[in-house]
Amino acid sequence: MSTRGVVLVTGAASGIGQQTAAHLEAVGWSVAAVDRCWSDTANPVGRSYTADVTDESAVQRTVDEIERELGPLRGVVTCAGIIVVADPLELTVAEFRRVLDVNVTGTYVVARSAAATMARSGCGSIVTVSSVSGLLAAPHRAAYSASKAAVIGLTRSLAVDLAERGIRVNAIAPGSVKTPLLASVQTPELREAQLRSVPMGRQGESSEIAEVTEFLLSDRASFVTGQTWAVDGGQSIQAGWRLPAEVVAS
Ligand code: NAI
Repeated sequence: MSTRGVVLVTGAASGIGQQTAAHLEAVGWSVAAVDRCWSDTANPVGRSYTADVTDESAVQRTVDEIERELGPLRGVVTCAGIIVVADPLELTVAEFRRVLDVNVTGTYVVARSAAATMARSGCGSIVTVSSVSGLLAAPHRAAYSASKAAVIGLTRSLAVDLAERGIRVNAIAPGSVKTPLLASVQTPELREAQLRSVPMGRQGESSEIAEVTEFLLSDRASFVTGQTWAVDGGQSIQAGWRLPAEVVAS
């Protein structure tokens, strides 16, 4: 039986969304797990729903269904996202639009439907998912970086407009996290190169993202809104160079 209320998690069939759904359920949230498709191996947590986040009416139907079946929404986590890695001169405009559609419009569509119902009860917390790529430039990520920077702007704007309706809105910005999405774009050589820019020298686990998300959803973060929390092993706070090994040793 849930004690914390109902939370909708998008992108819950895989990676960070799946782990976040499992973690939230374990700490007492009643989870509505949403994804555009559920494979036989997805092993949904809580109750699963199928919707494409870019489809406004499907999202609205799903939010209505969740409220009928589980009760009023108190939390939302928008993990659904895609990446295209390509040289900007080869990236097509159609690919660029698709990335912005899923990552930005999809986040807005879900947050908008959920906020309309949370506003009726006068409380709620939304956690959007940006990325270190929304804070820093990484190679071959024109569409992805643009979309993740836009998520930060969207989060701040929603936080301002929804504060007086009792709704907090924050973003997390994960660094490299071991998931199917990352595996689809990362070779071992890229992984090595990327890890050199992470002070903690490793990739993150989805569970480490889920812990921070849980905090931002909870009343322990009751005075936090409009913020972007980097969960990245320090990747976004260091200049792009290190001391040579002989200097460190001396
Ligand atoms: P993933 O590919 O493992 O999971 C993404 C999920 O989103 C999938 O289940 C997919 O079916 C779903 N999805 C995609 N488009 C959708 C749509 N239109 N409607 C509904 N569901 C849709 O990816 P991962 O790595 O778990 O990423 C989750 C979020 O975290 C994404 O927004 C990603 O950009 C972000 N992120 C991931 C990082 C990483 O290193 N894995 C780093 C920074 C941010």
